Amino acid sequence: MDTLGKIITCRAAIAWATNSPLTIEDVQVEFPKAGEVRIKIISSGICGSDHHVLTGSCPMNFPLIPGHEGAGIVESIGEGVTSVKPGDKVLTLIVPQCRECSSCLYPKGNFCEKQDILPSSGLMLDGTSRFTCKGKKIYHSFRTSTFTEYTVVPEIAVAKIDAAAHMDKVCILSCEVPTGYGAVVNSAKVTQGSTCVIFGLGGIGCAVIIGCKASGASRIIGVDINEEKFPRAKALGVTDCLNPKNLKKPVQQVVMEMTGVGVDFAFEAIGLTDTMLAAWESCHLSHGVCSIIGMAPPDLQLSLDATKLLTGRMLKGVCLGDYKTRDCIPQLVTDYMKNKINVNPLITHQLPFDQLQEALKLYETGKVIRCVLLF
Ligand code: APR
Ligand code: ZN
Repeated sequence: MDTLGKIITCRAAIAWATNSPLTIEDVQVEFPKAGEVRIKIISSGICGSDHHVLTGSCPMNFPLIPGHEGAGIVESIGEGVTSVKPGDKVLTLIVPQCRECSSCLYPKGNFCEKQDILPSSGLMLDGTSRFTCKGKKIYHSFRTSTFTEYTVVPEIAVAKIDAAAHMDKVCILSCEVPTGYGAVVNSAKVTQGSTCVIFGLGGIGCAVIIGCKASGASRIIGVDINEEKFPRAKALGVTDCLNPKNLKKPVQQVVMEMTGVGVDFAFEAIGLTDTMLAAWESCHLSHGVCSIIGMAPPDLQLSLDATKLLTGRMLKGVCLGDYKTRDCIPQLVTDYMKNKINVNPLITHQLPFDQLQEALKLYETGKVIRCVLLF
């Protein structure tokens, strides 16, 4: 089918409002404008952040097409696009890399000013949408929208990847793997023999475990209120599992007692202020590093004991593993293809796109690490 320069009608999942069931509809996907890329999606993960969008804890404009963890093939490009061409294998990026803004030009950090997370407009960089359904404008999510057969994404949010990449799996290298594994190896830089605690043993938490194990951590404590997460976490390298609901003391106190002095590295991969505080309070007072990976609902405040900052204990946020995304994520894919990192255990389920409802139900039951949708 010759689709070049034409509007494509295809199937996409639409969330009409917060907390309302997704429906799969025929949508019209416009051709890419200047600086944009139209992508045929091959696979997409369902991430905790997508769930935050659907439940309203990450505020966005509705109706929208959810999803951001996508792998696909470039169908066509808009004017001026030079970094990808039709036929290229690509990943969509929740954090773009424009290579021009103050964030991109600074050697550290990656939170490009052209991201659409905080706050989210749900629109392309020119302030318009590329999707319509039944004549109605449909918003984008995180300028990626991957629960659709075709999407349009700014070139700055597209990473060209290895031509040999397995497209049914690599979508998790678009978000889950860099977010969790990258927070450990690229941001916190966990050291050999160190002690770590991970709050939240879902998809991101499991990617954190893989990073801690690969970095040679000697003790990895996993915290989750769902004990069904424990066997898999242990198989990946967690040495001790804690369920805060079954403890007589606050979990941070238990971690302090288990380690004597607190952990060298803590990671929060849930997105709740209470668990962020617990992660912070589990850290060694002098050199402990607490990394916040989870996305908290907006406008919540953290209240810390200010004297505990003077001691050297560090609190940092990390988004997509602090990678300059277009520069670094293709290398992660190549490392995965060469078996330098094994993230296959993170994919526990794969379902066809039309079974999206079942996939979301599976996510909500907590029985999956990642369920990948196949198109
Ligand atoms: N204490 C401990 N564990 C909890 C708590 C709690 N109060 N609440 C939830 N959990 C656990 C869940 O049982 C689940 O195992 O946190 C885990 C979250 O995992 P997922 O739902 O699979 O989400 P994930 O994709 O891993 O994302 C986690 O990282 O990037 C962010 O936005 C994302 O905030 C989200 C977080
Ligand atoms: Zn930028």
